[in-house]
Formats: sequence, C-alpha cells, structure tokens
Amino acid sequence: MCGIIGYIGSRPATPVLIGGLKRLEYRGYDSAGIALAERTGLSTFRSVGKVSRLVDKLKAELSEKRHEEATTGIAHTRWATHGAPTEANAHPHFDKSRKICIVHNGIIENYRSIRERLQAKGHKFDSDTDTEALSRLIGESYNGDIRKAVIQALRQVEGAYGIAVLCADEPNKMIVARMGSPLVVGMGDDECLVASDAAALVAHTQRVIYLDDGDVAVITPHSVDIRNLDDEPIERNVAELGLDVSAVEKGGYEHYMLKEIFEQPESVRNALRGRIDLAEGNAVLAGLSASPAELAEIGRIILVGCGTSLHAGMVGEFAFEDVAGISTEVQQAAEFRYRNPIVDRHDMVIAISQSGETADTLAAIRKAKEKGTKVFGLVNVVGSAIARETGRGVFIHAGPEISVASTKAFTGQVSVLLLMALKLGRGRRLSQEHGMELAAEINRLPELIEFVLKQNDAIAKVAERMSKSEHAFFLGRGPMHPVALEGALKLKEISYVHAEGYHAAEMKHGPIALLTPGTPVIVLANHSPVLEKVWGNAEECKARGARIIAVVTEGHAHTDLTDDTIILPKCSPLVATIPAAVALQLLSYHVARLRGCSIDQPRNLAKSVTVE
Ligand code: F6R
Repeated sequence: MCGIIGYIGSRPATPVLIGGLKRLEYRGYDSAGIALAERTGLSTFRSVGKVSRLVDKLKAELSEKRHEEATTGIAHTRWATHGAPTEANAHPHFDKSRKICIVHNGIIENYRSIRERLQAKGHKFDSDTDTEALSRLIGESYNGDIRKAVIQALRQVEGAYGIAVLCADEPNKMIVARMGSPLVVGMGDDECLVASDAAALVAHTQRVIYLDDGDVAVITPHSVDIRNLDDEPIERNVAELGLDVSAVEKGGYEHYMLKEIFEQPESVRNALRGRIDLAEGNAVLAGLSASPAELAEIGRIILVGCGTSLHAGMVGEFAFEDVAGISTEVQQAAEFRYRNPIVDRHDMVIAISQSGETADTLAAIRKAKEKGTKVFGLVNVVGSAIARETGRGVFIHAGPEISVASTKAFTGQVSVLLLMALKLGRGRRLSQEHGMELAAEINRLPELIEFVLKQNDAIAKVAERMSKSEHAFFLGRGPMHPVALEGALKLKEISYVHAEGYHAAEMKHGPIALLTPGTPVIVLANHSPVLEKVWGNAEECKARGARIIAVVTEGHAHTDLTDDTIILPKCSPLVATIPAAVALQLLSYHVARLRGCSIDQPRNLAKSVTVE
C-alpha cells in the first residue's frame, strides 16, 4: 500500500524516480509526488491520479537544466488512508521550515496528539495526513543533524512506517527508516536507491540490503550507514535480489493479470520443484520438517489469511482434513487477532500471504506466538515481514505478482497446501499407495492448468455473453466452495460486477430470491461425490431463469441444463480446485476487459494491505 522510491547518485534523479513509481503504482494510485534536492533547496511536484499525471506536471514545470542537475530525490505513490486523495494530501510533505520533506508508507497512530501539540506551538498544517505530523516533528527535532532529528522524532511515534527523508541543509544524504513497512536499499555504482518493493530496484542493481524494523539508515551515493533507534551502528547483510526485469514487465501481454494467469503452469512448477517424492508418495518440505512424534502431536491446524489467501486456506482446510485427518479451521486474520483465540502448543497456525506484509495477518501471527502456538508462514515474497516474523514455513516461489488481483499466488498457495497435507498425511494416516496417487496428480498440475489456458478464446466468448450483467453468482460445494468465493471476488474486484460466491446448497436458503431471468450463475460442477447434488442446485437456479455457466470435468457436461460450459481436466476434487480457479480468473479477466475496466489497478484497491 503506497510505494516509495528514492535515489541518490550522479544521474538525473527524475527518470529513475518516475520509472520506480511506475513499477510501484500497483501498490497505490490515488496520487503521486516527487521531491528533488536542487541547488536552491527542496522542490516538490505532486498530482492527483496516476503517475502519468505527475509526469505531465514535471514536463510542464521542471526545466531541462533543473532536470539534469537534480541527482537526489524521493517519490511516492499513494493509497489514501488519512485524508482524501487530493494534491494537498499527496506526499512528499514538508516540515515547518520547508527544508525537510518526507515520503511515508504506513500509519502514524498517535498523529492526532502530535498534530495538536504542534498546532499549539503555532504549526499550521497543509494536509490532513498523519505523514505531515511526522515531517513537522522531524523539523522540530532538527538541530543540524538530520539523522539525529529523524531518530528523535521516530522515538515519539507509534504505528508503522517506511520513510525516506531529505534535508535541504544536508543535500548529500538521504535518511530512510522502517518499522512494520518494508524498505529495501539497492546499491549501484556511485549511486544508491531505496524502495518499498524490490520491483522498483530491479532495473538498476542486484545488490540489496533488506532493512529491518527499527533500522534508520543514512544513505549517500557510496555508503549505507545503518543505526537503530538508540543511534547505535547495526550490521546488515548485502543480498542478491535474484530477480530480472522480465519478471516485472508485461512481456507482450495486454495486462499483468493476463500475464500472471498464463504464467501459472510455470509458477506452480516452481512451487512444486524438488518438493515431490513420487516414489514414496510424499512431499519434501524443509520448512515443515518435524519428527513423527511432533507430527502426531498436532491436534489442530488453524489457517489464517485475508482475501484470496483466506480462500486458499479454505481449500487447505479440506486437504488437511481429507488427506491428513487433522481437524482444521480457517480464520480471517483480523478476526483471529481480536477474538482471543483458543489455541495452545498442540495447534499449528499457518499464516498465508502473498505479499507477506498484510497487517491483519501479521497481527494474527503475533497473537498466535503470544499464545505459544507453532506458527508457519506460507508466503510468496522472500524477506517480507511475515516471512521474517514466522521464521519458518514454505515459500510459494510464484515470482512478483504485479496485478492487484491475485492469481498465481492463489494457485501457488493451494499447490503448497496440498503438498503440506500430503506430508502431514504420510506422517499420520495416509498410505504410501494413496500418497503416490496424490503426489502424481499434484505433479501434473502444470499440465492441468495448461488444459484450461487452451480454452482462453472459448472462455472469452462465455465472458461476452455475461459481460452486460450487473450481478453474478458463483456456486460450489466441498473444496469448490472456496473456489466459488474466489471466483466471485475476482469478478467483483476487477469488473465491478456485483458477484456473490455461495455454497451451492445455500442458494435455496435465501439468495435464490435475487435471481432474475438471465442472471449468470457459474456452477462448479466438477466430477465429485456430490456432483448430482450440485446439478440439483443448478436446476433450481435454471428454473428461476438463471443463465447457467458450468465448469465441468471433461466427459461430464450437462448440455440440457447449461447455457455455457468450461471444461476441466480429469482429476480429483481437491486438485481440480486449481484448474477451476484458473478458469474463473480468465472469465473475470475477459468480463473486465469487455467492460473497459482498469484491470491491473482496479478502483479503490491497492496491492499489499498494510493497514488494519
Ligand atoms: C484479491 C487480493 C486480496 C489479497 C489480500 C491478502 O485479489 O489480492 O484479497 O489476497 O489482500 O493479501 P496477501 O496475500 O498479500 O496477504
């Protein structure tokens, strides 16, 4: 949520900052701004809307000479939390003297009291933001040493922050600091960068330092001096980014979302690589290593997450219960955090998150740890807060997910949850024979996904026939119920069509009242022990005039009942959740495309929700 990029070096800073902002735009796109250290002091440029608006403003207002000369700057793309998305609320924000300015991700929770204190001292605020309270506080603490002023101010704030600070009186440095909001420093030749997301650094360097909570770094073109909040020196390792530019570019696709949908055979292959033992019918997951005694001890699994990751957890619930015979619960992370959960050391909490930064999931992990429970992470972004906080678990290796709507993370999460269930199952009640069957099916997932991707054109035609509807229902039973929820979530977030995901048997208990002639009802009718029940539920909808779009297993179509059909490859109900999710991703994508929506950056949303 929100993106930060900073540059200090010998090149003009503006193109680097704008390039970085474009890479970060998926994290927030209400407004954007940039501050440059110029000979005459700090100058800022801000605009409402997308980064392209800021580019226009810079073209109009920044002369070629100033552009060439400014080699230090910070920039921000915002997802509004405190204050509407206006130019006045866009970052950077100045202090009272207008010699210090900052960009900030996160929330300063005690900003009201800081603001009131400063107002009593004569400060007149220019914005409604919590960030301005922090910039003014830094200014109040400034006494000729910007590092000390930042540390002094940060000691007074509560909340989360990732900040980059410039000071006109010390133009050859940039100060950055983090607490609960990620920051990565990139080191190049005679230049350094900082960003809230490694995607913004990839075009410039592979050498990075991941800052930790409590770090305050003074950055010059040639040095990175890291301190803690007591101003004591801290050592951090230099790491290899291990990403190349193609991972963060569209690669010929019209949208990141489509690229990421089509990447899934590969991203799932990466999630599975080296983790399947076909001969033993088992999974090899170093992050889940446990002795047979420890495995036997697990009384209950609790999966926590939000949004799409929560839906992946709900598929996981079926897998852990069916395959491993372990009682499993799924809890929305924000709920888990505040409900005083009853958990103990026999329970195993698995926190699921693509970004590894989701505030509610992070808080749930801390709550579980407080209660003495074993906590594992199922995360995509290496080095993220959740990966660090859990300290153990399994990465899904899906690569950067740039489109705001999550796709390849979901299939990666479900793939790894299936592997976890297989491993835990083999340590408990699952026979080698059954383990081998499941392992072989999981191993085929890339080709099962390909099977669905080949229907892209046909799915686009199905989308055409439903693209004018303002409402849609997604129905499923068993492990397909969470897939129905996920299908509805995808459709509503990118196409703004009102979509409801329901357990197929629940329709008749109320929501069926909403059906009118032609309402699309997408029925997940894969081959399973409850298939006839699902068809029965679909009949009830058809009888009320609904348009039935069925997602069926090859050889099990029901053309009398269905208006449109999408075919799934033959596989077991648990494994079928993945190709089914891919089919629904494509359907939503095409509906959104036909409706002319901003697919990669839907309104009101942002990637990585770092606020509660
Ligand atoms: C939906 C979507 C969100 C995220 C949710 C959790 O497409 O992307 O619902 O799944 O915000 O995010 P992570 O997985 O990063 O914790």
